[in-house]
Amino acid sequence: MHYVFADRTKNFTSSSVRDLLAIIQQGNVISFAGGLPSEDFFPVEQLQLAYEKVFASRAGALQYGVTEGFMPLRVLLKERMKMKGINSEPESILLTTGSQQAIDLFSKVMISPGDIVLTENPTYLAALQVFKAYEGQVCSVLGDEYGMDPQDLESKMKTLKPKFIYVVPTFSNPEGKAWSQERRITLIELAKKYNVLIIEDDPYGEIQFNDGETYPSLASLEQERTHVLYTSTFSKTVVPALRSGWITGPKEVICMMVQAKQASDLHSSSLDQQALYFLLRDFDLNGHIALLRRKYYERMNVMREYLENLEGFSFTIPKGGMFIWVEADEHLDMTRLLPEAVNHGVAYVPGSPFYVVNPQKNTFRLNFTHSTPEKLKLGMTRLSEVLSRVEKVEM
Ligand SMILES: Cc1ncc(COP(=O)(O)O)c(C=O)c1O
Repeated sequence: MHYVFADRTKNFTSSSVRDLLAIIQQGNVISFAGGLPSEDFFPVEQLQLAYEKVFASRAGALQYGVTEGFMPLRVLLKERMKMKGINSEPESILLTTGSQQAIDLFSKVMISPGDIVLTENPTYLAALQVFKAYEGQVCSVLGDEYGMDPQDLESKMKTLKPKFIYVVPTFSNPEGKAWSQERRITLIELAKKYNVLIIEDDPYGEIQFNDGETYPSLASLEQERTHVLYTSTFSKTVVPALRSGWITGPKEVICMMVQAKQASDLHSSSLDQQALYFLLRDFDLNGHIALLRRKYYERMNVMREYLENLEGFSFTIPKGGMFIWVEADEHLDMTRLLPEAVNHGVAYVPGSPFYVVNPQKNTFRLNFTHSTPEKLKLGMTRLSEVLSRVEKVEM
């Protein structure tokens, strides 16, 4: 049988790097590749208790639910977002199957074939896959460590007339970067001036290492709630298996996304949403996040020390999140080097696939949250050996 797929599937992309990384799940390779939180800190007992509460409540808890999601959880989310300065109503919150689905549904209701989506460069790979799958045309805006370059942003808004802008302004994936407040404000002003929507993807904002610094979310800076959609997730702060994320923004947009979600999956698991509700109600999630911040900061520092001792590599110390983004000497191709690193028992993600244009082959991303300090030390020793060896050979 010859299967004739829809034209749009031509835009579906699978990454060869991802395929290679799937192989390394086995064996004794220490992987800094995945964007995984640490299992060491999963609140297993508390989650078990939360599920028991759902089962104890009534059989009705196992019934179909509304597409928008379990209302008491949306009320708690409104309260949590208020702590971040984001005003929302439970009616304008849609619970999704991870924030990945929020990006997907938003794209589904927004992108017509050929529509322009503006992004950072590099940016979150799986968001790029979504925009392309809906036949959007992704264009990137120049940027630096403070965020998007205002001049380039304005010029692209004027000339390209984008449908929306996708950004990860707080501890981004892959760069681990945090935008300055000034750049955040400029982005919102320009979005209003040119009437363009922004989708702010914020899975890492809570994993902040220095309490003294503030990284206001775009949604908190735009109180009118007309131009910014905000999506986040419990994947990094509770567990990814819950597949629980959410999105909030202008009611009209959320309503359209509800219709799209109805057609996709009716609703996300109400069992998981109710368990999450009990967890948030009865467990000190903020205390748990404080623990994650401390532990992840320690782990980041272990990795950082090894990188500082390597010659020919540069990186910015992340102020939060889960990644260190490293730049090697220009002549190094980190994709080509990956099999050698894997043979030596360590893996990373090459930077190229994260780029919209001008892939920098000499970049790579390291995750510091998933491995214990001992594994970090062993993995970084192996990586240092591989990197210093190639440095010598290629010089
Ligand atoms: C920037 C970014 N957005 C969204 C997601 C999706 O997260 P989830 O669907 O687990 O909520 C991730 C996951 O790693 C991410 O890094």
